[in-house]
Amino acid sequence: MTTDNTLSQAASFDSSTSTEELIRRDRKVTFHASTHLRDFAHGDAPGRVITGGEGIRIRERDGREMIDGFAGLYCVNIGYGRTEVADAIHAQALKLSYYHTYVGHSNEPQIALSEKILELAGPEMSKVYYGMSGSDANETQLKLVRYYHNVIGKPEKKKVISRWRGYHGSGIASGSLTGLAAFHDHFDLPIAGILHTEAPCYYRRPDECAEMSEKEFSAWCADKLEAMIQAEGPETVGAFIGEPVLGTGGIVPPPEGYWDAIQAVLKRHDILLICDEVVCGFGRIGSQFGFQHFGIKPDLITIAKGLTSAYQPLSGVIVGDRVWKVLEQGTGEFGAIGHGWTYSGHALGAAAGVANLEIIRRERLVENARETGAYLQNAMQDAFAGHPIVGDVRGIGLLAALEFSPEPAARRHFDPALKVGPRISAAALEEDLIARGMPQGDILGFAPPLIVTPQEIDDIVARARRAVDKVHQELIASGDL
Ligand SMILES: Cc1ncc(COP(=O)(O)O)c(C=O)c1O
Repeated sequence: MTTDNTLSQAASFDSSTSTEELIRRDRKVTFHASTHLRDFAHGDAPGRVITGGEGIRIRERDGREMIDGFAGLYCVNIGYGRTEVADAIHAQALKLSYYHTYVGHSNEPQIALSEKILELAGPEMSKVYYGMSGSDANETQLKLVRYYHNVIGKPEKKKVISRWRGYHGSGIASGSLTGLAAFHDHFDLPIAGILHTEAPCYYRRPDECAEMSEKEFSAWCADKLEAMIQAEGPETVGAFIGEPVLGTGGIVPPPEGYWDAIQAVLKRHDILLICDEVVCGFGRIGSQFGFQHFGIKPDLITIAKGLTSAYQPLSGVIVGDRVWKVLEQGTGEFGAIGHGWTYSGHALGAAAGVANLEIIRRERLVENARETGAYLQNAMQDAFAGHPIVGDVRGIGLLAALEFSPEPAARRHFDPALKVGPRISAAALEEDLIARGMPQGDILGFAPPLIVTPQEIDDIVARARRAVDKVHQELIASGDL
């Protein structure tokens, strides 16, 4: 029989096991996400074991503390070590950890959480369906787009248009929605029926757009979308998916007028709009949702990350009235909907969500993201605008990015072999600051927990400045500048 003692030993190790030993064991047994698998397995890439965290800081097993300037993967919005959420999960686990939510079964936290989400999302939203990750939520979205059009008698209207640089997950379908080559190459993606239109990235706009204002560039993006829809046949295009602010594709706020221009095209062709709020949702850019900030009117919304601040895995699809009516009509005709995950509406995830949203409300973290976010944007401009290797300083709320260039005025790229972005991220780590080297170019991303203070922002920016200066000096010394 298993004793309490062996159970606790199974999940943690005492000080007689060194961290080096643990990492050696990890290399043997774990397949890590987004990792150079060979280098890691053979000891040629670093490993770390994170054991704790408080506020905006995480702690490695050897006691080293680092400022987490990226809130995990922009998800630990209420910061680390919030015992209130742990208590809520614990209390729910003592009552009921799990029962399925198929055929009308529910649990109390799921009901409470859905009510809270709909209250925040506004009156045009009707229901919430839960998953465990942003990727699976976007799989649900794709199924709903198909079902919707089958029910309304437009079975050919199924293609989905996403954007280059968009990020929507890494499954077969959600990874196809993603518009980053690293998630397609060698996996035979994207699958048929998923297309990508222009990225609304003003700084990296194509040469033909070099002289355009932001507004003109937005109109150009909308024209490109219109041309794609015409080429495919408007009767074949069912939905468009986009993040209000591009996240993993480089943290890029849309150019002026972008969403108005895009929505006009979608409306003209009766195309559903899926707003992927996995990063922006629940306060990150200083509004409850990104769609509210930009005046977007989504039919469907994807949520995850900030919904529980990652204290439990939980995602959701918020279904707007227009789609919900058709789902009801469809089940009236065809019977119960053939969609469901075992863990949909998991009671522990929902309990974490309720506790998390209560903290965000009580501590006014959306307002903090707006106010301290404005402070962050100013501090980044002060520290980096005009820096010899910084081409673009951009962001909104508590999302910010630096894009590096050897010749900022000409928007020239560094030679990728120099790995400037990853080197600056590594230099930041030497300053005990985690800032994320983004995959699409030499870009350093910042997304601290929403509890961050102006003093902590000063500290983050000062450390980032030292890291950028260090690599700048190295590039001069090596003759690469
Ligand atoms: C906008 C967006 N959508 C979807 C996802 C996928 O979420 P997950 O990694 O939980 O599957 C992410 C993850 O970063 C994201 O940023």
